[in-house]
Amino acid sequence: MIILGIESSCDETGIGIVNDQKEILANRLISQQDEHKLYGGVVPEVAARAHLDHIDTLLEGAMQDAGITFSDLDGVAATCGPGLIGGVMIGMMTGKAIAASQNIPFLAINHLEAHALTPRLTDDITFPFLLLLISGMNTQILLVEDVGKYTCLGQTLDDAIGECFDKTGRLMQLGYPGGPMIQKLALQCEDITAARKKYPLPIPMKGRKNMDFSFSGLKTAVRTHVQNDSNLDKVALCASFQATIIDILDNRLSYALQHLQSVRPTNMPKSLVISGGVAANTPIRTHLETLSKQNGLDFFAPPLHLCSDNGVMIAWTGIERLKRGYIDSLDFAARPRWPLDPTVTKGKKQI
Ligand code: KG4
Repeated sequence: MIILGIESSCDETGIGIVNDQKEILANRLISQQDEHKLYGGVVPEVAARAHLDHIDTLLEGAMQDAGITFSDLDGVAATCGPGLIGGVMIGMMTGKAIAASQNIPFLAINHLEAHALTPRLTDDITFPFLLLLISGMNTQILLVEDVGKYTCLGQTLDDAIGECFDKTGRLMQLGYPGGPMIQKLALQCEDITAARKKYPLPIPMKGRKNMDFSFSGLKTAVRTHVQNDSNLDKVALCASFQATIIDILDNRLSYALQHLQSVRPTNMPKSLVISGGVAANTPIRTHLETLSKQNGLDFFAPPLHLCSDNGVMIAWTGIERLKRGYIDSLDFAARPRWPLDPTVTKGKKQI
């Protein structure tokens, strides 16, 4: 089975081609970061136009890389949400056009589901697993019991974690996106304890008996330090910020494991999986691997190049869904919002 995947929900245009033997036949990607840098964040209209400019060339290149023609495809998968709707529509319509012309199945992919299932492409992970989805637009803890079966245990009540990295980066004038730059500067810090003492930051939601997140207070505390210190030590502030983020993730996940142990002790997840752009952060990966081991769980994170948005993750999700017979109609409408767990509304959930 060979599936073509199209990603265009934010600021990356990606085309991936994957087979059901877990081989990546093509992975073409263009990031629009340079175009959005000027504005300090993603501008939806600029993003949509850039997707349109690049998608044909990427498609052609991906087909050449894979050494196949459209007639070799068993299906086309495209992100149909959630995301910036102009960009989503460009990828979705491209996917529908190929599916219609070849008379092959069209798979409308939830971008979040693609982040959730990518680790199953690169590792043999069985259900159920606990998923920490940490990206530019999402922060959620999910129990994944099968393809299409997701229970949201907790999510952010305000900013997403990647957004918090990016806004913090902007406050310190580190450029866009802030995440990789903050990690780089934090790694230069020789004394994290001293850095945290110099720039103390709050750990929102710490000790709360739920699995939700909040990042807006953390961002405000960073702003206060930036405004009050005319001789700002960016290395120390980045180190303090990153260590605080790790504490937040540790606190929320520890409570999630405690909660699951009390409500389903005989059917505990066997592994902790992290995915999304922020899962590229090495100190976060290292810390969560240790936390997993302490709790008797296996730990999985996709390779760095598959953490942020790409077409491969969409193609792989297409394979997972087509194998189960989930095919979508060509009149599927693009969705700006599309929660993985439809029973959840912001701030109100629990198993
Ligand atoms: O998954 P992604 O490409 O976007 C969404 O689908 O939302 O994630 C992008 C986010 C950005 O906020 C970026 O700053 C963050 O991932 N990011 C990182 C790192 N690399 C990317 N955050 C922290 N540390 C990193 N190394």
